Parts: sequence; structure tokens; C-alpha cells
Amino acid sequence: MVGREGRSPNGTDAQLPGGRPAGGAEGVLRPHAEQEYAEELARLHEHDDRPRPPGWRLSPWAVTTYLLGGDLPDGTAISPKYVGQRRLMEVAVATLATDRALLLLGVPGTAKTWVSEHLAAAISGDSTLLVQGTAGTSEEAIRYGWNYARLLAEGPSEKAMVESPLMRAMRLGSVARIEELTRMPGDVQDSLITVLSEKTLPVPELGTEVQARRGFTVIATANDRDRGVNELSSALRRRFNTVVLPLPDSAEDEVDIVARRVGQLGAALELPESPAGLEEIRRVVTVFRELRSGLTGDGRTKLKSPSGTLSTAEAISVITSGLALAAHFGDGVLRAADVAGGMVGAVVQDPVSDRVVWQEYLETVVRERPEWRDFYRACREVS
Ligand SMILES: Nc1ncnc2c1ncn2[C@@H]1O[C@H](COP(=O)(O)OP(=O)(O)OP(=O)(O)O)[C@@H](O)[C@H]1O
Ligand SMILES: [Mg+2]
Repeated sequence: MVGREGRSPNGTDAQLPGGRPAGGAEGVLRPHAEQEYAEELARLHEHDDRPRPPGWRLSPWAVTTYLLGGDLPDGTAISPKYVGQRRLMEVAVATLATDRALLLLGVPGTAKTWVSEHLAAAISGDSTLLVQGTAGTSEEAIRYGWNYARLLAEGPSEKAMVESPLMRAMRLGSVARIEELTRMPGDVQDSLITVLSEKTLPVPELGTEVQARRGFTVIATANDRDRGVNELSSALRRRFNTVVLPLPDSAEDEVDIVARRVGQLGAALELPESPAGLEEIRRVVTVFRELRSGLTGDGRTKLKSPSGTLSTAEAISVITSGLALAAHFGDGVLRAADVAGGMVGAVVQDPVSDRVVWQEYLETVVRERPEWRDFYRACREVS
């Protein structure tokens, strides 16, 4: 039975009425990476003859190939998940092959969550053992809690215990994911120290402990912008290897990322087919990069930067909403008018200061580009 014990075994051996496995991705709004890319993972597994660290589904080489894409000997193409420096992913994977945990750090929208999900999927075949860090995250969410009805009725027992995803990962020898580590209060963060250094989680109430099986490791993410909210304690910092994920190097890389993700999202949402709209993607990426860096692409004009992040992730959502507009209310071709609304919404987060920044950009930069006439007009209309 699922959920009777207050924990669901990820549906792996559970059945839903009608005989469909609960773990199946059919009809699910967003399948987990290991479901969506099950085929690629299976092919990699087949061709992977390199040594695997204990508890790993794939070798570090195969995990890296899964992340960065490549071709297998039988001609199977593995799609790139992460676009960026190979070395960063190699360092991340190599870290996990040691007994150290991995911290992915970076500004918003640099694929920290995305990479952590795919790493967990490739290494353990399960990306769902996840704790979301917030200011309200309690130690119970990291360690374990109790099913109070059972606790009162029967006293403390294994059955009355509710495992955290972290404890489950230790038991299974899997990757546990912790999102937004530095949003959790310092003392809650510190409850990770024993787990990471001793690889055990004591349960004093039962006089026992859960010892991590081989293959257990932790991938945490933290946002640069949260720095100063709750610092990562130095004791904890020493137990993590940090990999900083950068913003995409070049505009071309960023266009590539946006185009790729928009294609996938469009397919998942079953948006009607529409031409790639690469020109619009390029334009949105250019605007975002210029405003982010405070300088026009040619380096001639200094700009003020708005308060929002304008990350790759926002570019992806501006284009996806544009595609929905074009598909449902336009002629199916992504045009300037379809992205203008989303673009202004993304840039103007603060109605006063950001509006000034945007107007200035519109009048001094956008207006001066003859090939951006349609875009200028569309933006004027929504501004
Ligand atoms: N270098 C990249 N390669 C591939 N995808 C990327 C890259 N950068 C951003 N993305 C895409 O951006 C989207 C947002 O990424 P994600 O949510 O992982 O960001 P994040 O770093 O966790 O941000 P936050 O700090 O806000 O949580 C994802 O859909 C991801 O595919
Ligand atoms: Mg994230």
C-alpha cells in the first residue's frame, strides 16, 4: 500500500487503479528526469563498460555524457541537458564519486536545480528524494518526524517514524537533493553535519541509527542572491565541494539553451507546432544580456540595469508565453508583438525605477536599431 506508513516508495512497486504503475509519467504535467529520459539512460547503461562507483547506476563518464550530450556507438544521440563548460560537470561528477557532497552555487536561473535533478537521475535513477529549504524548514524535514497518532497509540517504533527524503536516500544508497540550502536557518543546516561527516543519522528515541549505504551522497543548491540571509556555516562548508554555475558565456550559447528548452516545453505543453522563431529568441536574449550587463552588445552605450534577474530562465518563459500567444491568438508565427508583453513584464518588476530603466533602453537603444522597428512599436504599445 502506498502512503500507509506515511511514506511512499516513489510509486516504483505501487499500482494505481486501472493497473497503471504510479511511477509512470503518462499524463503527468512534468515527468521527473529519470522518467522523461528513461530511454537515454537505458541506452547509456547498455553501452557503459567503465567502472562505476559503488551504488551508482552509471559510470562517471556516462553520467557526464548524459549531462552534456553525445553519440553512442550504436548511433543513439544523447541530448545535452546542460550547455556550458564540460569541466564544470566533470568536477561536479567527480566530487560525487568521492565522499564529499556537492554544492551548486550561482545566480538565479543558472540551471542549479536542473543540473541537480539530472545528476540524481543519472547516478541513482531517482531524483525525487528532495528537501526544499525555506526559512521554515525544520530539523524534522532533514532528519525524521513522527506519525503522532501511531506514536501516541503504540509508542516510539520504526513504524511510527516518518523518514525524511534524506534518511530514505541514506537507506537506499541514493542521491539526496537539498534545494536552497542557505535559506534554511543555520541550526537546521547544521543537522547535516553528522550525516555528511559520519554518514549516519542517529535515532536516539529508538536507540538506533540509520547508516548510509554506499552510493549515498548529497547535492545541494544555493542562490548567490541569498547570500547574507543565512550564511553557510564554515563547518558545513568544509563538507561540500562547491561548483559555481555561471551565466552563459556567449549570446550564442544562451540562444541555444533557450531554443532547446522552449522546444521541449512547447512539446510537453502540446503547443501547436510553430516555426522556431529563432530571430525573436535572439532578440530577447540580446535585450536580457544587455540590460544585465549594463552595456550594449557593441560596448558603446552604458545602460542602467533593472532590479529583476533577467536570467536565461526568464528568457525561456518569455518565449514560451509568446509561443502560446502566437499559436492561440496569432497566425502561429512568433512575432515581436507576442514577446513584447512578457518582455516588459520581466524587465519592469519595480513599477517606478524599472520603468525608467526600460523607457531609457527603449528610446536610446531599441529605437535606433532599424531591424528592430517592429519590436520597438510592439513594446511602445504595451509600455
Ligand atoms: N547552462 C544551461 N544549460 C541548460 N539549461 C539551462 C542553462 N542555464 C539555464 N538553463 C535552463 O534554465 C531553467 C532554469 O534553471 P533552474 O531552475 O535550474 O535555475 P536555478 O539556478 O535553480 O535558479 P534559482 O536560483 O532561481 O533556483 C531550466 O529550465 C534550465 O534548463
Ligand atoms: Mg533552483
